[in-house]
Amino acid sequence: MAFMEYKQRTVTCGQLRGSDEGKQVVLNGWVHRNRNHGGIHFINVRDRYGITQVVVGEQVAESVRSIAEALRIEFCIAVEGTVRRRPESMVNPDMETGEIEVDASSLHILSRCEPLPFMIDEETDAKEDLRLRYRYLDLRSGGMQKRIRLRHEFVRAIREHLSAKGFYEIETPTLIKSTPEGARDFLVPSRLYPGKFYALPQSPQLLKQILMVGGFDKYFQIARCYRDEDARGDRQLEFTQLDLEMSFVSREDVLLTMEDLFNDVFASVMNYKLPAHFKRLSWIDAMNTYGVDKPDLRYDLPLVDVGDIAKKTQFGAFQSVLASGGSVKAIKAPATEALSYSRKYIGELEEAAKVYGATGLAFVKVGKDNILETGIAKFLVGHEAELISVTEAHEGDMLLFVAASWKKCCNSLGAVRAKLARDLNLIPKGTFEFCWIIDFPLFEFNEDAGHWEAAHHMFSMPQSQYIDTLESDPGSVKGDLYDLVLNGYEVASGSIRIHDVELQKRIFRICNFDDEEAEQRFGFLLNAFRYGPPPHGGIAPGIDRMVMIMSEQTSIKEVIAFPKNTAAISPMDDSPSFVDDKQLDELHLIIKQPEKNS
Ligand code: AMO
Repeated sequence: MAFMEYKQRTVTCGQLRGSDEGKQVVLNGWVHRNRNHGGIHFINVRDRYGITQVVVGEQVAESVRSIAEALRIEFCIAVEGTVRRRPESMVNPDMETGEIEVDASSLHILSRCEPLPFMIDEETDAKEDLRLRYRYLDLRSGGMQKRIRLRHEFVRAIREHLSAKGFYEIETPTLIKSTPEGARDFLVPSRLYPGKFYALPQSPQLLKQILMVGGFDKYFQIARCYRDEDARGDRQLEFTQLDLEMSFVSREDVLLTMEDLFNDVFASVMNYKLPAHFKRLSWIDAMNTYGVDKPDLRYDLPLVDVGDIAKKTQFGAFQSVLASGGSVKAIKAPATEALSYSRKYIGELEEAAKVYGATGLAFVKVGKDNILETGIAKFLVGHEAELISVTEAHEGDMLLFVAASWKKCCNSLGAVRAKLARDLNLIPKGTFEFCWIIDFPLFEFNEDAGHWEAAHHMFSMPQSQYIDTLESDPGSVKGDLYDLVLNGYEVASGSIRIHDVELQKRIFRICNFDDEEAEQRFGFLLNAFRYGPPPHGGIAPGIDRMVMIMSEQTSIKEVIAFPKNTAAISPMDDSPSFVDDKQLDELHLIIKQPEKNS
């Protein structure tokens, strides 16, 4: 088909209202639906602004009618016509343009569309890989259009807010030195320097700290980050952070800056009022009460430590765990009409607990007059009243117990808590519960590697009361770290940073980097710290993850235009792909096991 001049739109498909009656307009868009009712064509034309009904009546020239006849779903068309009010009985209150229709006088096919692999609607039930292979079609769906728009508005509101507060947006490179930050780096071979590699940044962490040394005391960036790790529900190999850093600040300043930002952004983008300040929980309290360090506070269901009571019982499973320093915790599953606590259902809860290392889930039912029934009731004789009191249980409630090492006990019952909340429908829709988790441990012991590691990253400041005992008791050191949690997801992490060379080196040593290796890997940071570094701190919320939660999705792919699938592949362009030998030669690379035929 020769390219022709075409009538460019004078209005969008979401624009026309009853008051536009009589106007001559041109629409450009896609054929969403095309129905022929007794010789009259009703064509729904769609663009990203909405859908407008176009009518090709019997009185229209035959040439136009034959084009209407030839239209298929998703053809791209231009329509010229007159706006007219629909008869009262035909007004569609569900459509923004439902008061009107456009009486077509001319129609042009701008491009044709092959038969669709799936229908384009608000949401499709097509398989994910099909959606990703034909992402350009999937992006036309109402749901994707709304989410990409939300993402745009979110980022725009962030930029506006931070710019107004005096932050500079500064880009940092995406080809950087490989510096271990927790995940595996993506590497880029250097053509000019055989055997040398750039890395794609896991985050701009060190560069933003160096920007502080460079005097830019309020920095942010909408930063792409790359991590060679498994792509789970809320993770992608490449994702976007709002990366932020400030000089001369305390933890309080960073937290208040974020509360102010999200208050403003949620009000303007979501029309949602957040509390001026978010709840704060210490890491240890979050773990003990909710079983995780990213608790969903849209519902309560607290865990209760019942170690003291368990100690007094004759129940062997409790006794042996307590004797080896473990914990016994309980959760109350409230009596409800929604669910009967059958053996089968308790079995499902037990499976959820086992994923996190529990060996089992013990249970009892609270009967009349403080009597405990079924399950492990016989082991608890004499301790019923105390147990019912600490768990605040009532007749009909179930008490569920895990005995395990402290962390497994917390995490397992945390998983039971989350499943119960879902199954009992305790999670309100459309609410956003932020909370801060503070006072994290600075170090974690890596059993496999046999040494301590940074729990967040190695640049976070230990709290001052632990400075003298860093080496002697790393496990007890709390850091000036904070996470922001939203509806049960970690949406941001940050910390006050170390800005002292000696302290930084001590942390490196504890994490098994001797001075020589530290200089080799992080020498540029240490050098910068030799030139008057300011005290500084910052944070980085994940943009994709936040928009996922804001749009009430559970997969991060729903808010990314071109995501990778769970196998780390982009089905649309088939990346990663083999490259030709010439490209490999130029990069001085030889592939160990050519698998070109696979
Ligand atoms: P962290 O590694 O905790 O901290 O990341 C901060 C936030 O980024 C988001 N995020 C991800 N989103 C999608 N896919 C992923 N694979 C992924 N990984 C992380 C999460 C997370 O809370 N440099 C530090 C921040 C700092 O200290 O300032 C950092 O990157 O929302």
